[in-house]
Order: sequence, then structure tokens, then C-alpha cells
Amino acid sequence: MSLIEELQKRRTFGIVSHPDAGKTTLTEKLLLFGGAIQTAGAVKSNKIKKHATSDFMEIEKQRGISVATSVMAFHYGGKKINILDTPGHKDFAEDTFRTLTAVDSAIVVIDVAKGVEEQTEKLVEVCRMRDTPMIVFINKLDREGKDGFDLLDEIEEKLKLKVIPLSWPIGMGQRFKGVYNVYKEELVLFQPHGKQSEEETIRLTDITSDALSPHIGQEAAEELIEEMHIIREVYDRFDRQAYLEGKISPVFFGSAVNNFGVKELLDCYIDISPTPLPRKAEERVVHPEEPKFSGFVFKIHANIDPKHRDRIAFLRIVSGTFRRNTNYQHIRLDKKIKFSNPTSFMAAKKEIIDDAFPGDIVGLYDSGNFKIGDTLTEGEMLHFTGIPSFSPELFRFVNNADPMKYKQLAKGLDQLMDEGVAQLFTLKDSGRKIIGTVGSLQFDVIQYRLEHEYGAKCTYEPHRIYKALWVTSDNEAALKAFMERRRRDIAYDKDGKLVYLAESKWSLKLAQDNHPEVQFRTTSEIVEKSV
Ligand code: G4P
Repeated sequence: MSLIEELQKRRTFGIVSHPDAGKTTLTEKLLLFGGAIQTAGAVKSNKIKKHATSDFMEIEKQRGISVATSVMAFHYGGKKINILDTPGHKDFAEDTFRTLTAVDSAIVVIDVAKGVEEQTEKLVEVCRMRDTPMIVFINKLDREGKDGFDLLDEIEEKLKLKVIPLSWPIGMGQRFKGVYNVYKEELVLFQPHGKQSEEETIRLTDITSDALSPHIGQEAAEELIEEMHIIREVYDRFDRQAYLEGKISPVFFGSAVNNFGVKELLDCYIDISPTPLPRKAEERVVHPEEPKFSGFVFKIHANIDPKHRDRIAFLRIVSGTFRRNTNYQHIRLDKKIKFSNPTSFMAAKKEIIDDAFPGDIVGLYDSGNFKIGDTLTEGEMLHFTGIPSFSPELFRFVNNADPMKYKQLAKGLDQLMDEGVAQLFTLKDSGRKIIGTVGSLQFDVIQYRLEHEYGAKCTYEPHRIYKALWVTSDNEAALKAFMERRRRDIAYDKDGKLVYLAESKWSLKLAQDNHPEVQFRTTSEIVEKSV
């Protein structure tokens, strides 16, 4: 098969949701359709249960599980579909943000009773920044929840997505009878526990009371007719191009645990979703159909076994064909590397592959060569953009607790930062090191891993910082003046970029007012829109 044929078969997406909305359940049902797993329950939930948020042993367990479920590939309808797992837990938000740079589209899962929740808002915002096409799946229709129209309004308002319902629920909870598939003009009748068969799908181009009532009763038929009338009046017709540009989001309703509405979602998804998209590098835009291989690392996973320090770097193929045992240029290190055991991820099964194509994710065994954001090519000087660091929320000084183990601590910290566990800032003045994280869990993880994997010990000291702001200016003198003024709060990030650690909202405001020629950003790079 040619490169073009291979890439046209690829679909790579992530499922985003607030914890408990049903992401794991939906993933599992999708894998069941693809035949990638045979029984329900095969995909371990990789979420950390809420009650265990302070238990870092739980995280160790989670790390073990999530290697297997980081990427799950399956075949369906002649397509090869790659699902990238995105931790819903807020302490892992940064990991999720980075994973979203490697997808071409996303499915957003919303709990019908809870509506739009906090974590969904943040994740959708990241997708929106990159114009990632999104489909919304409203889940748990077998329970009582919010009115469908109210939910669509809430999604438009809170997620700032222009929605178009492509399926519509008939009742909910006890009265849930099924959905009308607007996209395919079919009535799909609900059977709990995923037992619905082809016979429960009734083709109905013309929805009239006579046609509907034998299946769902008079009352539900009239209600559906009225609601479909409103849908036609209020919402635009589905336009695939607008979806691909991230301007509209189709909405589906269903119940993942009952495997209901999932097939409709998947069938529509493979019909409309984008093939692997071009990616922007600092030098130029790279298109998937270009014959020469290029790709970038968006995630690094440490081996859970401390005796084997090797890690897995997750590489997203952007263009060309990736081949085993072939020399590729590691741009940042300026050296050639080849990989003898690149792995693919078919559901929970890992296997060594000989080649991979745009849209695919390959696992590369790594003994410390990779950092998140690294680019590999056949030789061309390219740096893929769009994997920014976001300002952490929590900050602590990190101190060495064992003077004999200074080297181990430095190495451990360095490698954990390459993996993206947290961010390290070094104060310009004093050289003291500050760790910044999104959630408090990471502090425990770092301490634990330093000790168990690197034999180093650290302690923390509280430090009041409101936000880390990356600072730049076209006016060098203005930047210098600012740095002089705030010298105690100036630090370098791991790439040597200048950062201002603002103590409070107020001190940031003051700095902005007093230094209008300095730009303060909450991300390490300007977030580029996808191309
Ligand atoms: P997450 O990955 O987004 O965090 O959510 P997950 O799939 O683990 O689902 C969270 C809970 O919601 C699970 O229940 C799951 O069974 C339930 N759920 C998922 N889809 C539906 C649905 O369509 N209807 C209903 N009623 N429930 C649904 P749990 O009790 O937390 O776990 P479990 O013991 O069932 O695994």
C-alpha cells in the first residue's frame, strides 16, 4: 500500500472528559467494536479514584497501567484508529494538554446529569486553541439528567462550541426509548446492556407520528416530532468542512455502559473525522504525504521497574514512513539514532513494528536521549512547535536532603523534568531550584521516585508564587530594566527561557503596568493554531 493510502486510513483522536463522565467505558466499547478486545472490563480504568488522591502508591500503579492504555489502536470500517489516552485527573492536566498536540480530532464526553464540568472546560479550551475538530458525546441517558436543549445551550456557552445535534434522545432515565440518528435518518431503539441488534435500527427518512408511534408510542412520537422541528429551525445543517476547521461540533447522545449510541458515534466519526493533519515546525509546515519521515515526541513514560531505567518515548509520525533499524536525525542532540525495537500499541497489546505511517504513534525505548517536544527527521532541520509548558499552579523550593547524593538528585530531577512530571525553575540570583506542578500529587511522586529510582533524597520548602510568566520583549533595555527591578523573582526554566515568578496577582499587575514593553505569557511559547 502506498504512503497516501496508508495515511488516508489513519484516524488519531483523544477522548477528553471530566473524571467519571464515562471516558474509560466509552473507550472500551469502541475497542469492542473494533474487535481489539473481546470482553468488557478488559481496559483497566487508569483514573485515580478521588478518595486516593493523596496516595502516591496509587500513582505507581497508575503508571504501570497507563503505559498499556496510553495508545490503543484498532481497525474498524477499513480504517486504522488510534485512541490516545488523556488522564482526566486534574493533577495530570499538563500530560493531557501535551497529548492533545498529537491528536487530529477529539471526542468530548459529557455526563447528561452533570453537564459541563470544570476539567472539560479546560481541556476543550486547549483543543479550541488548536482548532481541533471535536465531536460531543452526551453520556448516561439511561439516567435522569438535564434537558437536551438546555445542555446544548450550556455547551455553547461554557465550552464556546457551536453545536449541531446529529442524534437526538427520545426520553431519558426510565423513559429512555432510544435516539433518532439525524445523520443517518434512523431510529435506534434502546435495549439495556448493549443488546440492541440491527433489528432495533429502523430507517425513517420521514418522521411522522404514524411511522414513529408503533415503535415508541404516541406521546414520545409527538414529542420527538416537535423537538426535531426545533432542531431544524434552530441549528445549522451539518457541514463537514466547518467541522474539520473546528467551527462546529456534532453532538451525539447515548449510554456508554449500555453500549448504546456508541456505534452511531463511531460510524459517523470514521465518515467525517480528519485524516492525519499537517503540523507546523518553526521552519515550515510539514505535510503528512511528504515522502520523508518526520515526527515528534509528546510523552515520555518511565519504566515502572526501577532496575530498568529505560523509558518509552511516544513518537507521533507527522510525515513519510518510519522504518525500524533506520538512522534518523535527533535534531536537538544533533546525532543519528536508530531503533531496533519500535513498538505499536494494538489495544493493550504491544508489538514490534517494521514501519509506521503519519497519524501512528510509535513507542521508542529510550535510555535518556529524549525530552518532550524532540523532533526526529531524515536529516532536515525541523523543530515541531506547539508543545508549550503552562504555568504551574503550585510551587515549592526543593532542597537536597543527602549531601553525598547531590549528583543523583541533579540527574533525577533532570530526567523527571524531561518526562514532564513537573517544571523546574532556577532562580537567577541565588541558583536555588523551585519545582512547579499542576497538582500536589506530583510533589509526592517526585520525592518517591527520586528515592526509589535515583537513590536521592529531597525536602520541600513552601514558596508563595502566584504564577510563572515567560517574559520577552523586543526592547532589550526594557527587559533588562525589568529584570533589575525584580531580580529576586527572575528564574530560568529548563530550556533556559526567562521566567518571572510573580508573588501575587497584584504584583503581576504592577509589573505589567510599570513595564508595558515587556510581554508576560502563561505558556512557554505562543500557542500556535494548528494548520
Ligand atoms: P471516566 O473514565 O470518565 O472517569 O469514567 P468511567 O468510564 O470510569 O465511568 C465512571 C462511572 O460511570 C462508572 O461507574 C461507569 O460504569 C459509569 N458509567 C459510564 N457510562 C455510563 C452510562 O451510560 N450510564 C450509567 N448509568 N453509568 C455509566 P462506577 O460505579 O464509578 O464504576 P464501575 O464500578 O461501574 O466500573
